Amino acid sequence: MRIVCIGGGPAGLYFGILMKKENPAHQITVVERNRPYDTFGWGVVFSDATMENMRAWDVETADAIESAFNHWDDIEVLIKGRRMRTTGHGFVGIGRKKLLNILQQRCEQLGVELVFNQEVDSDLEFLDADLIVASDGVNSKMRNRYQAVFKPDLVVRPNRFIWLGTDKRFDAFTFDFRRTEHGWFQAHIYKFDEDTSTFIVETTEDTFKAQGLDKADEAASIGFCETLFAEVLEGAKLMSNAPHLRGSAWLNFGRLICGKWSHFNGRSHVALMGDAAHTAHFAIGSGTKLALEDAIELTKQFNTLGATRDKIPVVLAAYEQVRSVEVARMQNAARNAMEWFEVVGGRYADTLEPEQFMYSLLTRSQRISHENLRLRDKQWLEGYERWFAARSGLTVLADGPTVPPMFTPYTIRGVTLPNRIVVSPMAMYSAVDGMPNDFHLVHLGSRALGGAGLVFGEMTCVSPDARITPGCLGLWNDEQALAWKRLVDFIHTTPAKAGLQLGHSGRKGSTRVAWEGADQPLDEDNWPVISASAVPYLSNGAMPREMTREDMERVKADFGAAALRGVTAGFDVLELHCAHGYLLSSFLSPLTNRRTDEYGGSPENRARYPLEIFRAIRAIWPPERPISVRLSCHDWTDGGNTPEDAALFARLFKADGADMIDCSSGQVWYGEKPVYGRLFQTPFADKIRNEVGIATMAVGAISEADHANSIIAAGRADLCAIARPHLADPAWTLHEAAKIGMTSVAWPKQYRSAKIQHETNLARAAAGRSPS
Ligand SMILES: Cc1cc2nc3c(=O)[nH]c(=O)nc-3n(C[C@H](O)[C@H](O)[C@H](O)COP(=O)(O)OP(=O)(O)OC[C@H]3O[C@@H](n4cnc5c(N)ncnc54)[C@H](O)[C@@H]3O)c2cc1C
Ligand SMILES: Cc1cc2nc3c(=O)[nH]c(=O)nc-3n(C[C@H](O)[C@H](O)[C@H](O)COP(=O)(O)O)c2cc1C
Repeated sequence: MRIVCIGGGPAGLYFGILMKKENPAHQITVVERNRPYDTFGWGVVFSDATMENMRAWDVETADAIESAFNHWDDIEVLIKGRRMRTTGHGFVGIGRKKLLNILQQRCEQLGVELVFNQEVDSDLEFLDADLIVASDGVNSKMRNRYQAVFKPDLVVRPNRFIWLGTDKRFDAFTFDFRRTEHGWFQAHIYKFDEDTSTFIVETTEDTFKAQGLDKADEAASIGFCETLFAEVLEGAKLMSNAPHLRGSAWLNFGRLICGKWSHFNGRSHVALMGDAAHTAHFAIGSGTKLALEDAIELTKQFNTLGATRDKIPVVLAAYEQVRSVEVARMQNAARNAMEWFEVVGGRYADTLEPEQFMYSLLTRSQRISHENLRLRDKQWLEGYERWFAARSGLTVLADGPTVPPMFTPYTIRGVTLPNRIVVSPMAMYSAVDGMPNDFHLVHLGSRALGGAGLVFGEMTCVSPDARITPGCLGLWNDEQALAWKRLVDFIHTTPAKAGLQLGHSGRKGSTRVAWEGADQPLDEDNWPVISASAVPYLSNGAMPREMTREDMERVKADFGAAALRGVTAGFDVLELHCAHGYLLSSFLSPLTNRRTDEYGGSPENRARYPLEIFRAIRAIWPPERPISVRLSCHDWTDGGNTPEDAALFARLFKADGADMIDCSSGQVWYGEKPVYGRLFQTPFADKIRNEVGIATMAVGAISEADHANSIIAAGRADLCAIARPHLADPAWTLHEAAKIGMTSVAWPKQYRSAKIQHETNLARAAAGRSPS
């Protein structure tokens, strides 16, 4: 075949090497606009997995790269006058020039034709080519020529960065955070050869402009960075090697994906590869890896399906199918890390103490967990656990045992929870006339015995018509209050505290118990339902009546009376249910609140009635006992509430005396499109906690101690609510403690004889032996 690669970056050169190696009869040319050995950029980092993959395809290139590698293990963080270091993180780096030189040499060795100093304007310059690989980088002219076919989707990210180098040799991957009067700047610094380091400086667009950098040329920008990062540079100079870039040297990262990766131009097939097809943010340093792996995959498909002109269409289709999935996966993984750096100034650098800031930085991608950090640097992690435990009020000895963050106590107002695990409210649909019964005693009681620090009862309804189903629990009469007291008293025989979630079903009321069809209207004995507006939940569901002022007063009085009964019953914590499309949530969401009075319209107006209820219960609830508010932090529907709206609501509730936001999402609009996944709602708890400055509870797909420890330790939330895992295992907390070797957590005295056996069996299983 006749193959032309337009662009001699890692993608074009490596593809040339691999195809020539597979069949020397292929006629391959790489055309590059720059001179040989003339490239911009500094170092790139790789993982071991990428190297293994490369080794399998061309040992010579892999050997040459590996012998030029620089390895380092440490990460150092500088912030607010502190310098902190951790080890065990394992990176390898290589200069971009060195990498390209190795690839160029290998091309020459194998007989790939290299043409330098030639700018290509069109693929039609190569009419004899069977395959044209557009490996011409992120601003690919070839891709732009066929925009309508390739359908590039480019999202320009808000931060500005400048990619510099320095001849100071840093012995750790260094992150340096500096604040000027206009905001925060961060430097990402890593060495890539014996005497040179990459030095990328990043800031937000606002700070960039306020600092006047939009008007600064490259020399002035470098001067500014040298002054700002003088401490870490210790007199070394910063250098640019991108003299060909016009205008500001400060760039915005563009996240690129393409709808299609290949096109037949009438003579040749044109395929996108590397940055021309997709980008990955430098926060996880995977752009070069993706480019090289594209080259490997396309070669592999030619090997499998046949490397002849007639096979090109099927080969390109298979290449696109495999690579587009992998690229989406990498871009997802990069997103958390990229977003962390986009909000780091206001959200973390200003608010977190340096120790916790560093933990948050290390776990920014949410792929490195607490136990993973322990494997990397046990000493550092244990030091951090001691620091965190001391901050939580525990007496910690410098060489004593450590306490994982989820097992530290948490005090809010006058209530101290023994640990950070909460049994999330879960409707059991097992009441008659709203009365707590033996089922509820055993159900909640066994979860309190199971070690959680706070046990919430299910959504408890403030009136008979506030119930979701006829099986829901209530607190509208004294008999119910007395029955609740029996449950709360039992919970108080354990170290756990008792939580009451008060709610009103609104337009989702008068429906069947879950196992007979959740959200479906009852077959008989339906009751009229009310909501912010006359907008039903299901198309076959009851049409709610828009609440009048009288309704509002009645419901407010019901909430007040129920809260008062909750005090009598002895609950420690109260939660106001303003989530999941129920009555108060229906006011908050613009999808369900279509009112034209002062309770509809702006977010502040939509929050007006939920806040009235909140103030009413806050006035009744004892000042030493906390109140949390559960919000749907995302409606997962166009036109619905977003985390930005949730943060505004959190601010309003905080101003009225709320102590905590329980960050749930969705269930407001039937056609919602939630993005589920591990810890999928934790980013909402993180945002609200660190931007609004209020305690938060994370909930949703938190299923093991490692998750909870990572969330609490990083300050993404103060508590973790666990729902379904608690249905599977009432003693979830005790069992997770045993799994991570936290044997000092006490079991109920009646169960103690099982504890050692359980722990021993886990240890035996971990060692691959059968139970004793
Ligand atoms: C700040 C920053 C830090 C980064 N850090 C890392 C990192 O640590 N690790 C990592 O793996 N990746 C990193 N990257 C990304 C990495 O540089 C790219 O993803 C990678 O170089 C992509 O390879 P490529 O061959 O597709 O494109 P490129 O490397 O961009 O190569 C394209 C080539 O095509 C040439 N060209 C363009 N147009 C034409 C034309 N019309 N005619 C002829 N030639 C043309 C260009 O001169 C260039 O040589 C970083 C990127 C940035 C911006
Ligand atoms: C059976 C069941 C009943 C639930 N009932 C309630 C409830 O009464 N009030 C509430 O706010 N959330 C309720 N939820 C939602 C949970 O509290 C929790 O937010 C959700 O299940 C996600 O957590 P998980 O991934 O740990 O299960 C319920 C969940 C389940 C599984």
